[in-house]
Amino acid sequence: MIYLDNAATAFPKPGDPLRRALEQYLEAGASPGRGGYDLAVEAEYEVQAVRRKLRRFFGGGEGWRVCFAYNATDALNTLIQGLTQNPCHVVSTRLEHNSVLRPLHHLAEQGRISLDLVPFNAQGYVEPQAVADALKPDTGLVMLNHASNVFGTVQPAAEIAAVCRERGVELLLDASQSAGLYPIELEKWGVGGLAFTGHKALLGPTGIGGLVLSPRVNPLPTRYGGTGVDSINLVHTMDYPHRLEAGTLNLLGVLGLGQSLDYVLSPGHQQALARERELGERLRDGLASMEGVELYCAHGPGERLPVLSCNVKGMRAGDVAVILDGDFEIAVRAGLHCAPLLHQDLGTSPHGAVRFSLGAFNTAEDIETALHAMEHIAATAVSQGR
Ligand SMILES: Cc1ncc(COP(=O)(O)O)c(C=O)c1O
Repeated sequence: MIYLDNAATAFPKPGDPLRRALEQYLEAGASPGRGGYDLAVEAEYEVQAVRRKLRRFFGGGEGWRVCFAYNATDALNTLIQGLTQNPCHVVSTRLEHNSVLRPLHHLAEQGRISLDLVPFNAQGYVEPQAVADALKPDTGLVMLNHASNVFGTVQPAAEIAAVCRERGVELLLDASQSAGLYPIELEKWGVGGLAFTGHKALLGPTGIGGLVLSPRVNPLPTRYGGTGVDSINLVHTMDYPHRLEAGTLNLLGVLGLGQSLDYVLSPGHQQALARERELGERLRDGLASMEGVELYCAHGPGERLPVLSCNVKGMRAGDVAVILDGDFEIAVRAGLHCAPLLHQDLGTSPHGAVRFSLGAFNTAEDIETALHAMEHIAATAVSQGR
């Protein structure tokens, strides 16, 4: 099987980091931050070490906070709901994933926020000026999908942050796709923070994600419960990280993420990422020159990840994916990719597109096989006059 659905989740995952995490968990699997005995202290120590690693990994400065969540969706809900407890205007984009669109839509329906969604340009990028034009005196936050899970386009976060900061507004990133694939420098870029998920290019397990936040960004808690601190008080603590973490942490997930971060930073993996980018370019060039294939926003001057979406003319994306799977054992993702407004604007709704997303373990042979398969499917469609 050729796996080209890494934007959904990375597969395969390197085994050693996960095995090491399991060993750590079996040795020090007490409740972190919940006891004064050695085992609990050790577990807490390990968790703090992962928080520090994450802060450094994303370029957060001194005083920046790392709060864990189940995944990016959970982290984004915590962030968006926590920052909109007082009514305000929110700016986001038509490139967003449903894990941003739905929480925002829900708040707008409830009358808690007013919302403007900025369009993307013909190359799949959000222009800083478009964001600047959408800002209002009562804009409380700007939420941006850092790298599109459909086009792979990496948005100019530093430039967009600059126009936001000029107007006293924080830019917050959904870094679900970029984390682990594209170097992120939060403090240097002037970005207020990000949400990440562990199971994509960070190569960690599912069930762990989180927020990395500047001290300027202080969401109110939206879930309340046990934190292991200040237990006499019936009011949930405002201190970090417990402010945004209620209940016992996913310790195995945290440890797994800590180990996988080391792996991601290793020179061997960084070389694999460079190869992955080259293979992405080979796939892009092959698809772009193929008769009967329409490739979306795959060229242009900006930065991009090896994520490509296309359609075979006259065929539904879902049917192409079924043939890729059934006849060629190639796993891709067809449909709307949880980005309904993007596909609406692209003119590909409701059937969406076929997405190829590469991973560090793909080979040149995988890409040639995928190109051969697409050529076959497109040629058949052309010969049938579709
Ligand atoms: C851009 C983007 N945001 C958010 C998510 C949600 O990630 P998770 O399902 O891990 O919460 C995804 C995952 O597909 C994504 O691609």
